[in-house]
Amino acid sequence: MSPLTVLRGPAAFFRSDPFDGSVGEALGYDADALIALQDGRITHFGPAAAVGPELPRDATVEHVPDSLIVPGFVDCHVHFAQLGIVGACGHQLLEWLTRHTFPAEQAFEDRGHASNVARRFVAELLANGTTTAVVYGTVHGHSVDALFEAAGGTGLRIVAGKALMDRNAPEQLRDTAQSGYDDSKRLIERWHGRGRFGYAVTPRFVATSTPEQLDTARALRQEFPGVWLQSHVAENTAEVAWVRTLFPEAADYVDVLDRFGLLGPRAIHGHGIHLSDRERRRLADTGSAIAHCPTSNLFLGSGLFDLAAAKAVEPRVEVGLATDVGAGTSLSMLKTMGAAYQVAQLRDHAVSPSQLLWLATAGAARALGAERETGNLGTGLDADVVVLDPKATPLLAWRCAQADGAEQLLGVLLTMGDDRCVRTVFAGGHRHDRPGSA
Ligand code: GUN
Ligand code: ZN
Repeated sequence: MSPLTVLRGPAAFFRSDPFDGSVGEALGYDADALIALQDGRITHFGPAAAVGPELPRDATVEHVPDSLIVPGFVDCHVHFAQLGIVGACGHQLLEWLTRHTFPAEQAFEDRGHASNVARRFVAELLANGTTTAVVYGTVHGHSVDALFEAAGGTGLRIVAGKALMDRNAPEQLRDTAQSGYDDSKRLIERWHGRGRFGYAVTPRFVATSTPEQLDTARALRQEFPGVWLQSHVAENTAEVAWVRTLFPEAADYVDVLDRFGLLGPRAIHGHGIHLSDRERRRLADTGSAIAHCPTSNLFLGSGLFDLAAAKAVEPRVEVGLATDVGAGTSLSMLKTMGAAYQVAQLRDHAVSPSQLLWLATAGAARALGAERETGNLGTGLDADVVVLDPKATPLLAWRCAQADGAEQLLGVLLTMGDDRCVRTVFAGGHRHDRPGSA
């Protein structure tokens, strides 16, 4: 047994989904909570007055009264190999892929380069309080090995996969239906279910895979039922038009995914901006999730994700927030929440701070089918916990002091906060203090 860690301070958590009924009741806030962690799990959580007597008498309690304890953040969609092209300005999606992304990903043929970037990426996840990430590798199988190796020992929960792409990409970045299948299978057998690691079958987007390759993605999911699937959908109008010409027999973009068996629980599709209600309903009916990537959508000028529409269909579409670095401009889930707020405002939808926190934690965990393990503070959940510092800068301290209640405090943090606010991270119980200051 590992030693018990006990924190005492203000904590925000979820009692229920804030997109169901009353927003005010969903967010739990305790100004004086106790949370105890041991062997990678939360063993106790609740008001200090109630939980204190349940703890061993000799337990050391760490007081963090000037903090806000929240669940570890979940980033549902991010490309680790694109860390080096953040801020490559000047183009929309298809041109950006050709001019910046593909050349950057070609450099990952070099294993040493892949390992270096993977280590930097893992350090940045922790610096930003992200404890679960769903990650794209490059077409090279060894890029995924490098990522999992870099995350080893950190406690991070990582779901990742090598990109499948056998057409419409530079020759050096193309696999074949057979080699993509073989490499994915090797990676699944090596990494899926190892500790907190999982594998995501990763057809990059349907435009860069032949129908034969998309058939292999379906086959891999059937052969290994616990794996995830990740891809991109309806991000940019030129992309949507191109997909229509590549798959003229399909009714729409989501129908392409449907025909190849790429929907369902554990299928996470990035963006979903240019969707019809039929497509939203089909995503929802199949239990597929959308990764909403607001900083990326703004950077590439892709469009404004319609969160209200995703939550208006019945059943609702599962949505998780995501950074989508390197089209995304930051690995900070606080900044990503702030951008999601602004995107919703431009759609005349005032999403609440607690709804945004939900999308970055418990809602994202549910989108991944991991809600029994992570995304919230509660006894029995994995010890994925972030201690935020609302006094990280003088202005933030001054502004936060004026916030009246948890909802307002969250609103300020997601508008003004970033990695400077991350004081301590517990990832699967592994402690990282001031992880951004290395
Ligand atoms: N669509 C296909 N590949 C990509 C990618 O790498 N980034 C984004 N934002 N969209 C994509
Ligand atoms: Zn992406």
